[in-house]
Amino acid sequence: MRKHLIAPSLIAADFTKLGDEVAMVNNSEADLLHLDVMDGRFVPNITFGMIVVEAMKKISKKPLDVHLMILEPERYVDAFYKAGADVISIHYEACTHVHRTLEHIKSLGIKAGIAINPHTPVVMLEDILEVADVFLIMSVNPGFGGQKFIYQTIHKIKQLRERLDERNICARIEIDGGVGLQNAEEILRAGADVLVAGSSVFGDKNPMQTIEKLKNIFAK
Ligand code: DX5
Ligand code: ZN
Repeated sequence: MRKHLIAPSLIAADFTKLGDEVAMVNNSEADLLHLDVMDGRFVPNITFGMIVVEAMKKISKKPLDVHLMILEPERYVDAFYKAGADVISIHYEACTHVHRTLEHIKSLGIKAGIAINPHTPVVMLEDILEVADVFLIMSVNPGFGGQKFIYQTIHKIKQLRERLDERNICARIEIDGGVGLQNAEEILRAGADVLVAGSSVFGDKNPMQTIEKLKNIFAK
């Protein structure tokens, strides 16, 4: 199996002690810190913006994986880059000029991700397979943590992995929503590279151990 990455999602953390939560992630085997930016327009919820990302940059030892769930994300790419994002993912459904925006993100010297909602088929990614560094497949409808994994996602991961392999492209496939120890192995076997995990990590009484278990899923 290829080596996979774990990205705890801060949305499920205790916001009264963010410093401690990030310190836990720093000391864990996590590979990235996933930050969900929501605008109350593309998704029904509002979370946080550049100011919080900038603060996380100061305390996180892990690269920041910024997931923009906002309309017209191209308007804010530079601001999130300046705030310290190492990966910026934009939504296919929220952006008119996806190709241009991905190229712009890459020109900043960071990784460019394209995210798709559960209703968007993998075939829509066909003409940007060689452009994006990360393909973020949503396995819940974006907006909230703690939702149930949509099982059809497994099929989408397999489809996308097949297309990337056929064309010899080594971009990452990232799965976001409802991921935990109960389904991580199946998701990885389908072809995912990055597991985003919110409530399954921060909701656990031993989050560090959960991250370790997710990381070492094949080392049983
Ligand atoms: C959903 C977010 C996810 C999600 C992860 O809109 O993009 O990152 O909050 O949380 P869990 O793992 O609880 O589904
Ligand atoms: Zn996310």
